[in-house]
Formats: sequence, C-alpha cells, structure tokens
Amino acid sequence: MAHEEIKSCCADAYSRDVVALLLGDSYHPGGTALTRRLADHLALAPGLRVLDVASGRGTTALLLADSYRVRADGVDYAPANTALAQGAAQAAGLADRTAFTTGDAEHLPYQDEVFDAVVCECALCTFPDKARAAAEFARVLKPGGRLGLTDVTADPDRLPPELSGLTARIACIADARPLQAYAEILAAAGLRTRVTERHDQAMLRMIDQIQARLDLLRITAPARLADAGVDLDAAPAVLDAARAAVTAGLLGYTLLTAVKTPMAAADLPAGT
Ligand SMILES: C[S@@+](CC[C@H](N)C(=O)[O-])C[C@H]1O[C@@H](n2cnc3c(N)ncnc32)[C@H](O)[C@@H]1O
Repeated sequence: MAHEEIKSCCADAYSRDVVALLLGDSYHPGGTALTRRLADHLALAPGLRVLDVASGRGTTALLLADSYRVRADGVDYAPANTALAQGAAQAAGLADRTAFTTGDAEHLPYQDEVFDAVVCECALCTFPDKARAAAEFARVLKPGGRLGLTDVTADPDRLPPELSGLTARIACIADARPLQAYAEILAAAGLRTRVTERHDQAMLRMIDQIQARLDLLRITAPARLADAGVDLDAAPAVLDAARAAVTAGLLGYTLLTAVKTPMAAADLPAGT
C-alpha cells in the first residue's frame, strides 16, 4: 500500500468519534498521566515553544499549554482532528497559546530550529517513513532542543497474524519497532536518546479499557460500532492476542526522551 494511502487511512480512522468512545480524549496508553511524566522529563517551563506532532484532538498540546504554560503548536494529518483541536482550544480559553495545523509529520509545515521541544505520542509507530519523520523532528528543533516520545514498541517479526496487516497498523501495532530501533532511527537524525522507560502495564490497561467499552457499546450502541466499521466478531481475538503479546514481551509501550546534538561532519548527507 502506498505511503500516502496508509497515512490517510490512519488519519481517517482517528477522526472517527468511535475512537473517542473507546479511548477517551487521550489516544495513547497511559493517557494524560503519562503525558505529564513526559513533560516533566523534558523540563517544560513557561514560555517555551513546543510542537506536538500527530496532535489528534489536541489533548496533549492543550495540557502542555495549560499546566506547563508553554506555547504549544499541534500538527495532525486529519483536518477533522485539527478542527476539533481548535474548537477545544477555544473552549478551554487556550487559543492564544496554542495553534493547530493540518500537516504531515514527514513534511512538517514549520521553519528550521523554531521549537524548544517536540513531543509525539503513539504516532511514530504509524508513520511509513520513520527516518524522514525523525529528520523533521530534528530540523524544527533548536540546537540542544529536546524530543519526547511515548510510543508502542514491538518485535514485528514475532507478532501473531491477528496483530499484522493494515488494521493492526492503524491500531499502532503492526509497524511499531523495538526500542533500540527507534533509538537508532533518532540517532541517525542527530537525536541522542537520554531517558527510556517501559510502561507496558499502561498498554494492558488500555486493552482492558477497550474491551470493557466494546462490551458496553455492544449492548447500548451496536449500530454505532457497525457504522464505524468495528468488527465485533473479530475484536475479542485481536484484544486477546494483544494482551498475550504484551505478556510475552513482544509488545509494549515506552517513554523516550532525546536531545538534538550537532551532527558530526561525517554524518551529514553528501552535499551539505
Ligand atoms: C494514536 S493517535 C495519537 C494522537 C495523539 N498523539 C494522542 O496521543 O492523543 C495517532 C494520530 O496520528 C495522526 N497521524 C497519522 N499519520 C500522520 C502523519 N503522517 N502526520 C501527522 N499526523 C499523523 C492521526 O491522525 C492520529 O491523530
């Protein structure tokens, strides 16, 4: 499948209201508690300029603007998410300290070296060209700027068939990488990993939450699930496979911070 098609499928899926019904406002394991932990690791402080890549409905950027008093930009591939994030910013009285734009993580619509920090939660795992996205994170960061990721980690070669394919890819699983692979992709872009933490229990809690909400919606709103294309017959096997994969150490959730370091001359692409 072409890269643009994968991105559109993912963005379309995460624009649907059923995702909010299943996950709440924060579309990643660990929710806003993990976002706060990430912000603390990044030492976010009032006045810093922060970019949230793949900002969804704006939950992370709004939290950072509100609780850490940063100026937060958010960029997401889905125009519907951008519109919802802008509405949420207005409603929260944060429109003067936030800006939401539709755009592609692999071609960020910002100038070089403008952000003190870049965050990206549960999304690098879905980007078809992760090296290109990492290079974009580095390009828009100021020298010494900090990157904060929370993301799915996986051993893709050992995942069962239920966790492969396009649906699993959109569910952030099928194209996730081991932590070491993420660190290598970032290092090649000039982003040196500093802190890593495993949060696999948060992944298990999210799986349990999705199961509980699906069980409820199956009774209260089955038509809504069907309209959204949720296959209720297939869901239990996928959730069970995901739970087993986390327990077996093949799937997990990780927090990572990195710092933008000057590239050695030998590392620079030819012609620069
Ligand atoms: C799992 S959600 C995470 C949303 C948000 N970061 C959060 O944690 O609540 C993945 C998000 O990535 C966005 N996305 C997917 N591909 C993208 C791309 N190439 N560039 C920007 N956003 C993208 C989707 O539209 C979706 O909002």
